[in-house]
Amino acid sequence: MSDRVYIFDTTLRDGEQSPGATMNLDEKMQIALLLEEMQVDIIEAGFPIASNGDFEAVSEISKNIKNSTIAGLSRAKIADIDRAWEAVKHAKSPRIHTFIATSPIHMKYKLMKTEEEVLDSIKHTVSHARNLCDNIEWSCEDGGRSNLEFLYKCIELAIGSGATTINIPDTVGFTLPSEFGSIFKAVRNNVPNIDKAILSTHTHNDLGLAVANSVAAIQEGARQVECTINGLGERAGNAALEEVVMTLKVKKDLMPFHTNVKSEYITKASRLVSSITGFTVQPNKAIVGANAFAHEAGIHQDGMLKNAETYEIMTPESVGLNKSSLVLGKHSGKHAFSEKLKELGYDFGDNVLMEVFGRFKDLADKKKEIFEEDLIALAGERTLTYDEHIKFVSLEVNAGSLSKHQAKLTLIMDDNKQSNSSDGNGPVDATFNAIKQITQTDFRLKLYQVHAITAGTDAQGEVTVRLEDDDLSSQAKGSDLDIIVASAKAYISALNRLIFKKTKSIAKNSAEFKIEGV
Ligand code: KIV
Ligand code: ZN
Repeated sequence: MSDRVYIFDTTLRDGEQSPGATMNLDEKMQIALLLEEMQVDIIEAGFPIASNGDFEAVSEISKNIKNSTIAGLSRAKIADIDRAWEAVKHAKSPRIHTFIATSPIHMKYKLMKTEEEVLDSIKHTVSHARNLCDNIEWSCEDGGRSNLEFLYKCIELAIGSGATTINIPDTVGFTLPSEFGSIFKAVRNNVPNIDKAILSTHTHNDLGLAVANSVAAIQEGARQVECTINGLGERAGNAALEEVVMTLKVKKDLMPFHTNVKSEYITKASRLVSSITGFTVQPNKAIVGANAFAHEAGIHQDGMLKNAETYEIMTPESVGLNKSSLVLGKHSGKHAFSEKLKELGYDFGDNVLMEVFGRFKDLADKKKEIFEEDLIALAGERTLTYDEHIKFVSLEVNAGSLSKHQAKLTLIMDDNKQSNSSDGNGPVDATFNAIKQITQTDFRLKLYQVHAITAGTDAQGEVTVRLEDDDLSSQAKGSDLDIIVASAKAYISALNRLIFKKTKSIAKNSAEFKIEGV
């Protein structure tokens, strides 16, 4: 068996299923181009039947990506498969990924199908897909809770009908690594034609075991791992690509497998996905968290100075993290600024660069030291490619323990300047009330989070806001030295995204496109 493990990234499909993480076409394309550059083998670009937006994204990505296989997801339905093929057929290397649930609970309550009906459906849909495309992946949804004898029959039939990759998902993140590994072992020992397909693992993190389960599956024969940048994904997320790739790299003495992924792109990919989705990476997240390479305890710092390997099992450089943190000041020029942004993974055209540079100068006037994190926050806001239908202009607040909390806000809405003064329970509440008054909106605020980007009382505050309306939600970040201004920017950015989604109806969660079974 080969020691090459194929990396299948599903940030644009399963990752996008995280509430609030919906991305538009430009954003998906930026991520796909970076995944291609980092040599991800397969990019699952979306679920084409789910919405016109998904279809368009999968087609455009298929046309533009040349070095990775592009997969489109479909249920076990002919219309889904045809739609997936229509979208991926432009790719240099297309794949149709089709799935059906095989666990007793999913078959009985969700599909309302017997085992025989599921087997019929596998035969019918996989052979239909194979008539369209040579590269077919078949997944047994909820494989982790499926009856093994039935699973063997399904897999044998799927391979017999033309599947070239067999993916076993732990859809609900329920199995232990030992259990999940033994499913792969049993499948390898009991499915007669298993050598005709590549075995794949797809895990969810409900018990925090997604990566451990993927590793166990690799040890028992999986040679494709489905994962996402930053572990984004449905509920608690999927296995994190960066953790899988670095585990294989760091533990190669015990696990003699390798991937083709250029690990030096990991930090860049993590930042891009975080700024596009508005999902902040927790500081103690493995590999890509802000503290992943920080050594706080004196005894650790002492060891590090003597020999970095005392406390570091991989170098920051191996994941694309540069050690320098204090970067530019108010006298830095545009060229140095643009070079630094490129190093951090942001390559803007001239107009956007000038705008971000202007904001950098404003910040540098107020803040003595500008750190990488400050630049990432400035640049991250600009990676959002939604029309800025609503723009922040200015804000003045009354706050403190004695005065009435009041916000005087000015926005530009569709090229008209509009102002409002509102009261509230605290300056943030007053500011959000003023935004709601001007925009005549009242979406549910599902998340409001503030954190300091760097140390020091002059640090920029970064605020994350998630808004929700019926089945749609959107999340965005805003940063500023003033946390109330950062809050207003984050709210406005989330609002622009939500309005965009409502008008374009691109969200799969919308009633119109509600897809059962993923
Ligand atoms: O979790 C899951 O079962 C899935 C399948 C569609 C592969 O995402
Ligand atoms: Zn999944």
